[in-house]
Amino acid sequence: MTYDFRIAAADTPTMYRDLQSALEGLVAGETDAVANMANAAALIWETLPDVNWVGFYRNIGGELVLGPFQGRPACIRIAFGSGVCGVAAETRQVQRVEDVNAFPGHIACDSASASEIVVPLIRDGELLGVLDIDSPKTARFSEEDEAGCVRLGAILSRIL
Ligand code: SME
Repeated sequence: MTYDFRIAAADTPTMYRDLQSALEGLVAGETDAVANMANAAALIWETLPDVNWVGFYRNIGGELVLGPFQGRPACIRIAFGSGVCGVAAETRQVQRVEDVNAFPGHIACDSASASEIVVPLIRDGELLGVLDIDSPKTARFSEEDEAGCVRLGAILSRIL
């Protein structure tokens, strides 16, 4: 079996639709959360242009702890309310940040990061963690990206 999920779509909504199908196929029948997060990070990393970090922070006892990712080594523990990920965890709201340097408390794991989107992953009222995607381009993430990432988050919340 090969895992060739290369996606080349003409427009952003189509790309996210293809990405959703690929993600659903990739995690189908697998219950191991680490394996699913690792493959999801790799798939998103391979598919989205202009990203320099894709990965997960898990809610471990009310603290965000680094999970599977692609990109440079990152900070390991983030308090709720701290930085973009911590605010997403505390508020349970998607954080789409056009300029991370203007975000109070932003945690710069990679100085190349210029914009970021963080999607809280919630199942049955429980915050499982967050999906974090960084870009070296300012204002990389559009409303279409946000809608697509929220749908990816919904798939992930079911299987983590
Ligand atoms: N920039 C994030 C920290 C995580 S890294 O980007 C991987 C933040 O402010 O929460």
